[in-house]
Amino acid sequence: MIKKAILPVAGLGTRFLPASKSIPKEMVTVVDRPAIEYVVREAVAAGVEQIILVTHSSKASIENYFDRNFELETTLENKKKYDLLKTITEILPAHVSVVSVRQPQPLGLGHAVLCAKSIVGEDDFAVLLPDVLVKDDAADNDLSLMIRRFNESKASQIMVEAVPDELVDQYGIVDVATTPEEGHSIVMQGIVEKPAVGTAPSNLSVVGRYVLPAKIMQLLEQTPKGAGNEIQLTDAIALLQQTESVEAYRMKGQTFDCGSKIGYLKAVLHYGIAHPQLGEEFKTLIKELDA
Ligand code: G1P
Repeated sequence: MIKKAILPVAGLGTRFLPASKSIPKEMVTVVDRPAIEYVVREAVAAGVEQIILVTHSSKASIENYFDRNFELETTLENKKKYDLLKTITEILPAHVSVVSVRQPQPLGLGHAVLCAKSIVGEDDFAVLLPDVLVKDDAADNDLSLMIRRFNESKASQIMVEAVPDELVDQYGIVDVATTPEEGHSIVMQGIVEKPAVGTAPSNLSVVGRYVLPAKIMQLLEQTPKGAGNEIQLTDAIALLQQTESVEAYRMKGQTFDCGSKIGYLKAVLHYGIAHPQLGEEFKTLIKELDA
C-alpha cells in the first residue's frame, strides 16, 4: 500500500515573482486555501497518510500551516467562533501526519526526492509536484487509480496528459506505442526530460504525479546531472525502466499549472465557481464582467 507521499516544495518560485518574493508560491491562495492544501487533499483522498515535504529555510509557513496553532485555536474558542475553529483544525485529518526534510542545495527534482530517502525507507511512495493542481472530483481520483494499478501490476506509474507539440520542451515526455484511454495505463518504452521540439517521442507530458518503488532512491544516487545541469527524476525513471516495467497513466482530471501566472488565474476561476459557498456568486460576477 502507498501511504507516503513526497512533495518537493524547496523551489524558489521565480516564475511567480513578485508574489513569491516573501511567501512561498505554494502558500498563494486559490480561492480561500493555499495551493499546497489542494495537493495534500489529493494525496489524502488517494489513501496517503504521511506527507513528506522536501523544503527550504524560507518556507516555514508551509509547515506552520499544517501544524496546530494553539494561540489562534484558543482565541477562537474563547470567542465561541466554532465554525472558524473547525475550519482550521480540520485542515488535516487526524490520521495524516506531515514531516519535513530540507533540500540544502537546489540540485534538481531528482535530488529533492532523494533528500527524503531516510524517511521513505523500504516503502514505495508517491511524488506530487505542488505547482500543478489536478482537479478530479470523482470519488476515485487519478492518483488513487494510479495507486490501485501499481498495487495490481507492480509497475511504477507516471501520470501523463497530452500537450501541444510546440510545448514538449517544457516537460518530461514519455515514449509509448499507443496513447492509452483516460484513466488507463500503458507500458512505456522510454521517458525523456524536456526534449527539443520536433524530437519528442510523443506529446504525452509528465504532469507531476508519480507512484514509485523504494528502489528508485538507489537509482537517484547513481543518476548523473541531466537537463538544466540538474539531477532529474525523469533520468532515474529511465534507469528504472531498464530493469522493470514502468507505465504511463493517462489522467482523466484537469490540470492547472499554478507555477505560471495564467495557469494560476485559470485555477482560481475553476475552483472559484466550484466553491460550495462562493461558487454561485462568483459565477454571477464573471457573467457581469462578460456583459
Ligand atoms: C518537472 C519535471 C518534468 C515534468 C514537470 C511537470 O519539471 O522534471 O518532467 O513534466 O515538472 O510540471 P519542472 O517544471 O520542475 O522544470
